[in-house]
Amino acid sequence: MTKQHRVAIFASGSGSNAENIIEYFRKNRAEVSFPIILCNNPKAYVFERAKKLNVPCESFTRDAFNSGEVTARLKALDIDFIVLAGFLWKIPEEMIAAFPDAIINIHPALLPKYGGKGMYGDNVHKAVVEAGEKESGITIHYVNEHYDSGSIIFQAKCEVLPGDDYHQVAEKVHALEYAHFPQVIDSLLK
Ligand code: GAR
Repeated sequence: MTKQHRVAIFASGSGSNAENIIEYFRKNRAEVSFPIILCNNPKAYVFERAKKLNVPCESFTRDAFNSGEVTARLKALDIDFIVLAGFLWKIPEEMIAAFPDAIINIHPALLPKYGGKGMYGDNVHKAVVEAGEKESGITIHYVNEHYDSGSIIFQAKCEVLPGDDYHQVAEKVHALEYAHFPQVIDSLLK
C-alpha cells in the first residue's frame, strides 16, 4: 500500500515556498497531505496563501512554541514530517526529539557560509553581495538544536554576477528553491 504522509509546514513570512510545495504534491503525489501550516507571525502573508489553498493556518506564541504546546498540536494532528520554509525561530529541543530525522529546513545560501542567527531572507543576500561572492545558492538540511548546522541533504548553486544587487540574487535563489525543494521533500518521504 502507498504510504500516507502528513506534513506540517512552518513559515514566518510570505509563504511562497509553502505554496509551491503544496501545489507540487497536489499535482504529483496526493498521498502526501498538508494538514496545517504553522506561523509565528499572525500578520504574515502566508495566511492569505493558505486560505487560497484551503489549508488551515494557525499562529502561535513564543510561549506555546517553547512549552511543548506546538509539538502536542503536531502530534494530535498525526504529523510525521516537518518542513521549515522561511521559518525564523530556533526549534526547541523537545520538538527535535519528538520528530527524529523528520524536520528539515531550507536556507537561502551555501551553508556553512552565511548561516546562523540573524541570517535570513534578504539579510543573507545583502551579505553575499557585500562580500563579493561569485556564487550563492540553497541548502536543504536536517534541523538540530543550533541554527543552520544540521547535516546537509542537498545544495544547488547560482552565479552572482558583478552587477547583481541583492534583489537579483534573491530572485535567483528563489528560483532554485522553487525548482528543488519539493523534489527533495518528495525523495525523503519514502
Ligand atoms: C526563503 O528564501 C527561505 O530560504 C528563507 O526565507 C525565505 C522565505 O520565503 N529562509 C531563511 O532565511 C531561513 N534562515 P517564502 O516565505 O516566500 O517561502
